[in-house]
Amino acid sequence: MKKLMFLTLALLIGAGAVAQKFPNLAKTPPMGWNSWNKYHCDVSETLIMQMADAMVSSGMKDAGYEYIVIDDCWQVSRDENGEIVPDKERFPHGMKYVADYVHSKGLKFGIYSSAGTVTCQRRPGGFGHEYQDARTYARYGVDYLKYDWCGSTTQDARSSYTNMRNALFAAGRPIVFSICEWGQSKPWEWAGDVGHLWRTTGDISDNWNSMLGIFRQQRDLARYAGPGRWNDPDMLEVGNGGMTTEEYRTHFSLWCMLASPLMAGNDLANMSADTKAILMNKEMIAIDQDTLGRQATIYRDNGDYQIWVKGLANNEKAVCLLNTSDEKKSVLVDFALLASIRTGGFRGFGGPGGVPGTPGAPGAAGAPGMPGAAGAQGAASRPATQGAAAAGAASRPAGQAAGATPAGAGQQGPRTMPQALTVNDYRIRDIWAHTDLTLKETSIYVDMPPHSVKVYRFIRK
Ligand code: GLA
Repeated sequence: MKKLMFLTLALLIGAGAVAQKFPNLAKTPPMGWNSWNKYHCDVSETLIMQMADAMVSSGMKDAGYEYIVIDDCWQVSRDENGEIVPDKERFPHGMKYVADYVHSKGLKFGIYSSAGTVTCQRRPGGFGHEYQDARTYARYGVDYLKYDWCGSTTQDARSSYTNMRNALFAAGRPIVFSICEWGQSKPWEWAGDVGHLWRTTGDISDNWNSMLGIFRQQRDLARYAGPGRWNDPDMLEVGNGGMTTEEYRTHFSLWCMLASPLMAGNDLANMSADTKAILMNKEMIAIDQDTLGRQATIYRDNGDYQIWVKGLANNEKAVCLLNTSDEKKSVLVDFALLASIRTGGFRGFGGPGGVPGTPGAPGAAGAPGMPGAAGAQGAASRPATQGAAAAGAASRPAGQAAGATPAGAGQQGPRTMPQALTVNDYRIRDIWAHTDLTLKETSIYVDMPPHSVKVYRFIRK
């Protein structure tokens, strides 16, 4: 009997060892470059090696970008053994050669396939070849797999991606698993144990409306993100030419606020000074890469003017003011109020690993019982045209009522409330002006061009 129990236990443990994603990967959102947004099917070993070179020489590597990922079209067929065959004209030395080159630059190598029978460009997909392909990728030296959803017809998303996850684990090489199912089956609800990141929407295009539309769809997903499990609002378009510099700055800032993977999608070998200044703003990147792994939540929603807050480690926070309108706005910003927002800036406060479905838990806005938290900051004294845009003038979203205890508080982790901090506890950094604020008064008007952001980091003194 004892022996039987032992055997069952051993079997269970054995099975458990297979049925998991690789742990300890993507503890912060993955950063890198992917070929799709700019080059589509025009990929080759020359391009990939050039981008690896440029990743280093441009300073992108030093800024934290790490993965060089070939998207669709590197593969053309399968051989008589079912083995995937790379395009011999474009990759004459094979994929391991490219991977070795990328590794020689101190970078990591990523590749692409699809869970269906074909990829989105109708190259062979992974369906039915999962374990074989996983072994092939391990042999190439792949560190990152983007796995698309084309050609999947009647497949079940969760089981298809779980199958590939198991195949990757069985192949034995730690590979970041990037699920690209476009949000159709709400992967945020199941993918945390399957992949390290999952696309939440359809494809981004290089224009303001597409970018903003995708951003808006991230609003209720913050609770699902955390170290090793990220919502992926798609790759960056910064530097590809379809948006203004201001809009690209906004795009990049919003992605960082969301703790999104930062996969550049532009020509790294020919970047303008503006593009470099955006993609390599190290203080903005630090907000994305914060070890707490929180995705920003909306704190005020005045329609085309919003305030987003991201809790950071050490009870710091990033605050992003967003003007999505086509007009310049002058907004009254109350830094004392912003300083008082409790973000739950430590793990265990309804954060990652918290109970999914807990409304408003991560980074829950609202400062229970705190002075000034009701957001009643002087709306009456402001010129009427500016009233609607002012901090604190919006009504609080449901579940974030002033004085309400944020859901999740006290349900897990440390039971103490985070320390209440005031504006005097912080140095306030303007992330794009690269300066610290010197405030004579705690409420000031801030001018915001159309389609722009202001990002402030509240740094503990
Ligand atoms: C899908 C994905 C894109 C890209 C293309 C490649 O559309 O969502 O990100 O990988 O396929 O064909």
